[in-house]
Amino acid sequence: MKNEKTQSTIGLDIGTSRIVAASRVNQDEKVQAQLNAFVAIPYSRLTENSLKREHVPHAVSDGQLVIFGDESARMADLLGREIRRPMTRGILNAGEPESLPQIKEIIATVLGDSDKGSKICFSVPAPPLGVEDNLTYHDATIRQILDQLGYKDVRSINEGVAVIYSELEDSNYTGIGISCGGGLCNVALSYMSVPVLSFSLAKGGDFIDSSAASVTGELINRVRLTKEEGFHFNGHFTDKIQQAIAVYYDDMIQSIVQGLKDAFASSRNVPKFGRPVPLVLSGGGVLPEGFREKFEKAMATVSLPVPVSEVRMAGNPLETTARGALVAALSE
Ligand SMILES: Nc1ncnc2c1ncn2[C@@H]1O[C@H](COP(=O)(O)OP(=O)(O)O)[C@@H](O)[C@H]1O
Ligand SMILES: [Mg+2]
Repeated sequence: MKNEKTQSTIGLDIGTSRIVAASRVNQDEKVQAQLNAFVAIPYSRLTENSLKREHVPHAVSDGQLVIFGDESARMADLLGREIRRPMTRGILNAGEPESLPQIKEIIATVLGDSDKGSKICFSVPAPPLGVEDNLTYHDATIRQILDQLGYKDVRSINEGVAVIYSELEDSNYTGIGISCGGGLCNVALSYMSVPVLSFSLAKGGDFIDSSAASVTGELINRVRLTKEEGFHFNGHFTDKIQQAIAVYYDDMIQSIVQGLKDAFASSRNVPKFGRPVPLVLSGGGVLPEGFREKFEKAMATVSLPVPVSEVRMAGNPLETTARGALVAALSE
């Protein structure tokens, strides 16, 4: 029934690596994700027809076939090419307006045929520590894209806060939410759902991949695959790539913990919480086995004005931000 379709509400995670939509129509929830990437290959009618038959998102542009999302990685790998990304370090690059049509296609793909009357809440990163606001262009451009796609009821939410909305209902949305993505790590603290502080760090999975690649002389993509397919934290590494990945993972974790310390130190309004709060970890970067324990150990070395009661993993780290944005959209 047409009537039922208009009940749709959507949480949208606009990440450097992946775009994820969590939608709810009546009581049914579903999640759609695509790589936030594209690749251009030479045009051929045959290839275009194959892409159509397989329902692969694509467009014809300047005599080339542009392939979007998950399939772009497979195709790029096959042809020995690099994928291209509309975003770096968490936000759209104002110097690269030519990738806007690409991210628009990827967003349209994850939104599918959802009703244009849907309420949408999308995630935006926090500015880095010490930076006032570098997000105006990014926020406004994503709104513009959603508007062009026909969605008129749109708002945004801080990514770390979305993590808290998704995972910390049991502590009444009081605690620390962290998302470790490709471009950035995002951190937020809230008290009874009210954001108290947030910041981002330009050290995420991409930083680990490129740093480990440069010291080992390996290709970035090779390092990323090694990291995603078999990396875990345990004592000693015989493999040089694994060892380098561990070094930069340590660096990332130390930077987050130090960032928390600095954020509290420079914040004028840290309330007396009265009790320790939970900290929740999400994002693709937290997936390696042993990450939680490693993070917990690093947290034990600092003392924060708001003590942490436990370090826990999000239920589904790759969907946390989108699900939290959905909670925000539903609560409007
Ligand atoms: N199984 C895994 N183990 C380790 N890292 C992973 C794994 N899966 C994804 N990642 C890394 O997580 C990052 C992407 O996380 P994601 O939350 O999807 O990012 P973003 O918020 O940037 O879109 C990438 O750096 C990717 O290499
Ligand atoms: Mg993310």
